[in-house]
Amino acid sequence: MAAATGCSPLLGFEAVPTSTADTFVVPPGYKAERLISWGDPLFSNVAEFINGGGNTAAAQAGQFGDNNDGMSFFPVDDNTAILAINNEYCNYELMFPHQGKNMGEEDVKCAQAAHGVSVLTLKKQADGWRFEKDGKFNRRIDANTPMAISGPARGHDLLKTQADPKGELALGTFNNCANGMTPWGTYLTCEENVHGYFGTSGQAEITPAQARYGIGAEDAGWQWHKFDERFDLAKHPNEANRFGWVVEIDPRDPASTPIKRTALGRFKHENAELVIDNDGHVVVYLGDDERGEHLYRFVSEGKYNPSDIAANRELLDKGTLYVARFNAASEGELKGKGDWLELTFGKNGLTPENGFSSQAEVLIHARLAATQVGATTMDRPEWVAAHPTEPMVFCTLTNNKNRGVKDNQPVDGPNPRAENHYGQILRWQPANGNHTDAGFDWDLFLLAGNPTVHNDGLYAGSANINADNMFNSPDGIGFDQAGRLWIQTDGNYSNEGDFAGQGNNQMLCADPGTGEVRRFLTGPIACEITGLAFSPDQKNLFVGVQHPGEELAGSHFPLGGDSTPRSSVMIITREDGGIIGA
Ligand code: FEO
Ligand code: CA
Ligand code: CA
Ligand code: CA
Repeated sequence: MAAATGCSPLLGFEAVPTSTADTFVVPPGYKAERLISWGDPLFSNVAEFINGGGNTAAAQAGQFGDNNDGMSFFPVDDNTAILAINNEYCNYELMFPHQGKNMGEEDVKCAQAAHGVSVLTLKKQADGWRFEKDGKFNRRIDANTPMAISGPARGHDLLKTQADPKGELALGTFNNCANGMTPWGTYLTCEENVHGYFGTSGQAEITPAQARYGIGAEDAGWQWHKFDERFDLAKHPNEANRFGWVVEIDPRDPASTPIKRTALGRFKHENAELVIDNDGHVVVYLGDDERGEHLYRFVSEGKYNPSDIAANRELLDKGTLYVARFNAASEGELKGKGDWLELTFGKNGLTPENGFSSQAEVLIHARLAATQVGATTMDRPEWVAAHPTEPMVFCTLTNNKNRGVKDNQPVDGPNPRAENHYGQILRWQPANGNHTDAGFDWDLFLLAGNPTVHNDGLYAGSANINADNMFNSPDGIGFDQAGRLWIQTDGNYSNEGDFAGQGNNQMLCADPGTGEVRRFLTGPIACEITGLAFSPDQKNLFVGVQHPGEELAGSHFPLGGDSTPRSSVMIITREDGGIIGA
């Protein structure tokens, strides 16, 4: 490989420069190929994608969903694997010839079918891993797929609807942002901005709890409530309570029913980073991506049993949810201590006097519970990633224009900049090296910034950020087996003002030991880079290109010409067959 440009032994690739081109650029000695794109049929009896929009709902239901986000790779045998991939949302301006300006029932059905999860069968061919049409694991899960509701909130009054008077069976999942995987072979998909799909043209009384979750009479433009009354708040006020959960899916059984795990709390879930603690408890770290919301931790009551995989299936139904409180930074340094506050009915003020009458309510209204116990408001917690061998956890805090502006979001602790445009990466080490311990030490692994615009101070970024590796809005993160921290961005791609010289969204790689950060790839016009998964041999890296050309920004990625831009999953390999990043 080409000589490294820095000194970190972990980083063995040549940095790529920023880009404003409509291409996907990887380092010298690497190659990137398209695995699958929005609209590609999963089955041979499904219509091909129609360029320019106008795909039917029936076709979309059997095609790869839109806006691929988090994904996980499940090995099956030497030549077979499963890639489970979230399909977060869709872009009406690219999906319909009318660009969303003249929505009808068929259009809403098509949009609902583009959301959810795609499960793909992969086969290892002579030229590498390829998607297998009609493969036996292929499956689409969308906004209408039946899902069991389990855990402490199952059957609670707030989850009951006319269609489901027992509060036990929801229809669908949507706004599936990032993900997680369990050692017992299941996939976790996380429901994020679910509030925006509900609305009404009638009279809905919006409760304070609904308002805290962003739910109101105005939807976010999806218009589902006009054609599918399930999404009409005036008619079905509890339907929205059935979304905002982590959903567990068995990717090996296409007939299995996905399960909403209410013990993990309801909020705008980003990802679900699962670790098995030293003593066998399952710990899941969870971010709530909204300005001034919180960072959570779930600890299972039971223990992981590596010798009886099936025995682990209900571990995410019983346990304790916690939320993080960070103490102020120590004088002149961006580090300090913090602790996990328990969200259990009857404790820490989670009592009827304060509006909580059961554990189910604590979980359904986890945000209200977090405020009650005194959690720290954060700069939009996105992904959490745990180091593969060290007791060390990282979380991207992507940006927060409200920091220092709104009363409940003072400049403090791990959120040290007012009107934070750039974002930062928080790191913590659990006390005693134990993920179930009540306390932790935190510091900021990096502050993104722009040293070419700001000469000094925190907006220039931390010491490990320079003119050659700068970026904004870290979002997706994940570790490989060697402990490289991969960082993806969902930032401002204007390349102007505060963001001058930062180009299109990108993926970087960091050495947690030295702090060095190096740019690994750049994406096409108006995309976000999100979603990453490695093959177990670490020689294939799957990376997502989400919404290239959104808002008609002029991309034709990945097929070029005058084609409709399409979210895609890329496979990255090394020309010499080596380990990615080394
Ligand atoms: Fe779907 Fe917070 O990103
Ligand atoms: Ca994200
Ligand atoms: Ca983001
Ligand atoms: Ca996104």
